[in-house]
Amino acid sequence: MPALVLLGAQWGDEGKGKATDLLGGSVDYVVRYQGGNNAGHTVVVGDQKYALHLLPSGILSPGCTPVIGNGVVVDPSVLLSELSGLNERGVDTSKLLISGNAHIITPYNVTVDKVTERFLGKRKIGTTGRGIGPTYADKINRVGIRVQDLYDESILTQKVEAALDIKNQVLTKLYNRRAIAVGQVVDELLGYAAQIEQYVADTVLVLNQALEADKVVLFEGGQGTLLDIDHGTYPFVTSSNPTAGGACTGAGVGPTKISRVIGILKAYTTRVGAGPFPTELFDEDGEALRRIGGERGVTTGRDRRCGWFDAVIARYATRVNGLTDFFLTKLDVLTGWEQIPVCVAYEIDGKRVEELPYSQTDFHHAKPVYEMLPGWSEDISKAKTFADLPKNAQSYVKSLEELSGAPISAIGVGPGRDETIEINSFI
Ligand code: IMP
Repeated sequence: MPALVLLGAQWGDEGKGKATDLLGGSVDYVVRYQGGNNAGHTVVVGDQKYALHLLPSGILSPGCTPVIGNGVVVDPSVLLSELSGLNERGVDTSKLLISGNAHIITPYNVTVDKVTERFLGKRKIGTTGRGIGPTYADKINRVGIRVQDLYDESILTQKVEAALDIKNQVLTKLYNRRAIAVGQVVDELLGYAAQIEQYVADTVLVLNQALEADKVVLFEGGQGTLLDIDHGTYPFVTSSNPTAGGACTGAGVGPTKISRVIGILKAYTTRVGAGPFPTELFDEDGEALRRIGGERGVTTGRDRRCGWFDAVIARYATRVNGLTDFFLTKLDVLTGWEQIPVCVAYEIDGKRVEELPYSQTDFHHAKPVYEMLPGWSEDISKAKTFADLPKNAQSYVKSLEELSGAPISAIGVGPGRDETIEINSFI
């Protein structure tokens, strides 16, 4: 009954696509359990590069069934264009399953996301503008539209009416925008119904039966631990639970079924959007990490903020997710630095602090305490085993492992599918 959760241990963009895809060949189901098309996974297969936003990366592995769980928010227009884009490139997408309980990102949720951010001005979150937060807000307010509602026109109309009732007041009276017509939204959504119907399934039943039958199920988190609505740097977070518990609620699988939780950890740190980031660099080192690491958002095209590795965050991720392993990515990006600073603790108001402060105010004041580790200059992209790495790269990895509190079981040394050192097998 191997059920693995694979999630971002920092602020997202750790290279989860590559890690999921690496396991894709040996897993039977790859499940997304939260988020929506705010995510961006780049997967390189041979000379082909795929950027996925909503679809699970398992869609690129022929033997694998990709699943969009109940905890995901689905923009039907994005779903259909991502599917047709893959079909045009010869990828078979017919095995996809979508939970009937997943919530739909409606056009008005996207509008509300954009106008709210504009209204917040300097205090904006820096969202991806894809309607993610407003859709989850509707879900919690019990005025959300679910995939299954597309197949009952009368229910759909009632629900869209209920959702727009207050929103139209806010849009017209507060934001000075035009009201959105119920009929127009209903027609657009009904237009997607037939195109999506073949994929809609009781995914909770399917996944639990798969686990009973000893199939390998991989739960793929979007975003990352520090963007979690409960455990992240609130309010500069996304509106769902990328942490390990989210896999249970977002897919309908009990915690006793999860056998392994793997945190994807970049060898340095990046973040998109606003919010605190203690090791952020504003100098040429930050610029070099951005350039060498290609640190530009797959979804938004925004430059990512870059900084040194932060072990305080990694320890926190180990704790809140119960991590059993790390997959360290992008080690090759650090090649060429004579010395590499690693943040081992924070200094907050003159005191050394080893763990992530629970107070947001303290976290905003946290200054990194660095230890300098010796760098390496050799090309490491051809390394196949840990022993192939230069001694200093080996000790960099070992230090990160000791500081972060879980074994590093795989190391990414380049963007390609094969450019990975496997230390312990995940399955
Ligand atoms: P939202 O998820 O669009 O509501 O955006 C909330 C915050 O999460 C913003 O800071 C985004 O930049 C960030 N965010 C959302 N998705 C991702 C992702 O896949 N990687 C990194 N940051 C993300």
